[in-house]
Amino acid sequence: MSANPKASERVDALREQINYHNYRYYVIDDPEIPDVEYDRLMIELRQLENDHPKLVIASSPTQRVGGTPLSAFSQVVHEQPMLSLGNAFSDDDVISFDRRNHERLGVDMIEYVAEAKLDGLAISLLYENGELVRAATRGDGATGEDVTHNVRTIDSIPLLLRGAGFPKRLEVRGEIFMSKEGFRKLNRAQNDKEEKPFANPRNAAAGSLRQLDPKISAQRPLSFYCYSTGIVEGGKLPDGHYQIILALKSWGLPVQKEMQLLKDINACIDFYQKILNKRDKLPHDIDGVVYKVNSISQQKDLGYISREPRWAIAHKFPAEEEITKVIDIDIQVGRTGALTPVARLEPVFVGGVTVTNATLHNESEVLRKDVRIGDTVIVRRAGDVIPEVVKVVMSQRPKQTNVFVMPDVCPVCQSSVIKEETISRCSGGLICDAQIKEGFKHFVSRQAMDIEGLGEKLIEQLIDRNKVQTIADLYHLQRDELISLERMAEKSADNVLAAIEKSKSTTLPRFLFALGIREVGVATARGLANYFTNLDSLMDADSETLIKVPDVGPIVAKHAYEFFRDVRNREVIQSLVKSGVHWPDIEADFQDDDLLPLSGEIYVLTGGLTSMSRDVAKEQLQALGAKVSGSVSAKTSVVVAGEKAGSKLTKAEKLGIAVLDESGLIALLAKHSK
Ligand code: IVH
Repeated sequence: MSANPKASERVDALREQINYHNYRYYVIDDPEIPDVEYDRLMIELRQLENDHPKLVIASSPTQRVGGTPLSAFSQVVHEQPMLSLGNAFSDDDVISFDRRNHERLGVDMIEYVAEAKLDGLAISLLYENGELVRAATRGDGATGEDVTHNVRTIDSIPLLLRGAGFPKRLEVRGEIFMSKEGFRKLNRAQNDKEEKPFANPRNAAAGSLRQLDPKISAQRPLSFYCYSTGIVEGGKLPDGHYQIILALKSWGLPVQKEMQLLKDINACIDFYQKILNKRDKLPHDIDGVVYKVNSISQQKDLGYISREPRWAIAHKFPAEEEITKVIDIDIQVGRTGALTPVARLEPVFVGGVTVTNATLHNESEVLRKDVRIGDTVIVRRAGDVIPEVVKVVMSQRPKQTNVFVMPDVCPVCQSSVIKEETISRCSGGLICDAQIKEGFKHFVSRQAMDIEGLGEKLIEQLIDRNKVQTIADLYHLQRDELISLERMAEKSADNVLAAIEKSKSTTLPRFLFALGIREVGVATARGLANYFTNLDSLMDADSETLIKVPDVGPIVAKHAYEFFRDVRNREVIQSLVKSGVHWPDIEADFQDDDLLPLSGEIYVLTGGLTSMSRDVAKEQLQALGAKVSGSVSAKTSVVVAGEKAGSKLTKAEKLGIAVLDESGLIALLAKHSK
């Protein structure tokens, strides 16, 4: 008998709704209600359970985090051992696997299911009458550890199965893992608490699952996908692996999207390539693809060999981490003078390519990881990310090694090195050859002036032989100067000259990016160009104006301001423009709200306003669809001139542009504000 029939009914209804929304969110990836609404249901349920403690049951969604921490894990003997998978490292290995299956089964066609191999930990979930009663790790395959208390805290694992038709005793197997995003967040938090970061998402997931206190696990962003079953009693499952997984899904268990039923092994190999290509874009780590014979009766016929099924194989991706030795630590000087320590490595095949260098980022990183010449290290190359040293294998450190010391003079120009927090920077500026060369490389690069054929070697020769001092000199290069260089045939010289000529016709964002202003990347360059619409107003802008550009903060503003105050930079810009580098005017950056009353109009505010700040005036004009620009040009529609308006007003008058005083502005805003 329940304490209160009304409360009991409401509690049941809330639980049902919450479980339904969990299913929508975690299993079919199609949430129906916003998070706040879900939170409201949980709050109401918690409140009711608080008021009526007799209504609390273990499978209630409020009961995920249990009470007291465990003192130790108890052991679980797996009724059916949890096996491992054989590996295939090449297409040939996969084709042999398929051939063996054909020979043993004596059939023409074998259907396979291909699915991503999740890089986490195997878990066994036991459901009795639809209720999660136990969760155990794989352990050695025969005996694992009882981690029910922690697994219950994983929101995507249902405490109750949905619907009907599931076996009375059903063991679901799958992988617990941590998403890349969750891993980054967790490590940031570890860092803030000055605790040791986890090496990778897999270790983080393992560490999180092996907590005695479920409150800690509950805070860790763990996820789960199922991929097979173990015990099945008191019910039947379909006769296909794919169909079984779909049944599990219908009962509320999350299934990964990277899974397909395929007609033969060739389709599996195509699937592998497809998944390998999108590996970096997936939200979680995977380390290969698993192929499974779909028919369960065929699986039974094939059986097992040495604790691995004959009916399945893991087609592994090239390893992203490998071991190698540090031969040397070099210092690279970048375009802005930043000194980067780089480990020179014994060549090693990792992430699908041979790696000989790995960045060590900066001095504090080298010291934190304590990387020394002679060390054996773990190198990681994930996707297109530049290779990095993950950690030193301390047990293999040779006897005599020295702690890394950052040089206090620039290895290229011998200027002194200045420390700015973690970054060491060469103070040489334009006398440092390394900075000059990097500046040139940046200037000609694809997203900047895009000068094809002007590669690294050529730039180095031009600078070393004094053919160019600044980027502006590129536009004065003579044909015979180019031909006199090493490995420069007449034809290539002509191509380079044509590419330089072609680059003269550019865009303002490209030009700004090419200048190599510190912290100004492609997006910021675009933002600056759109805001100022022309180079002159940007060059004359003060820091306060610069900060108003979307996404420009005080640091970028400072760098941009200082860059344009430097006479040498101004001279280079002038020379570039004089040589014919040009770009079309930037159209004011209209939003698609063409329907607003001032859409298409460009306003310029100048002088002081008394009834409102300039920022407020700007916001109100923008809200009416106007673009507010910092400088007056022929494109300006209206200049709003407050008190003591200066050169902008004069220019407006000269160009015959409409001028509004403050009362005119107020009238305009009033007219359109309803
Ligand atoms: S099937 C009898 N499917 O790989 C085979 N395993 O090397 C049962 N794994 O311990 C495993 N993703 O932790 C299977 N889609 C997937 C998998 C997968 C990851 C892990 C699992 C297992 C290990 C075997």
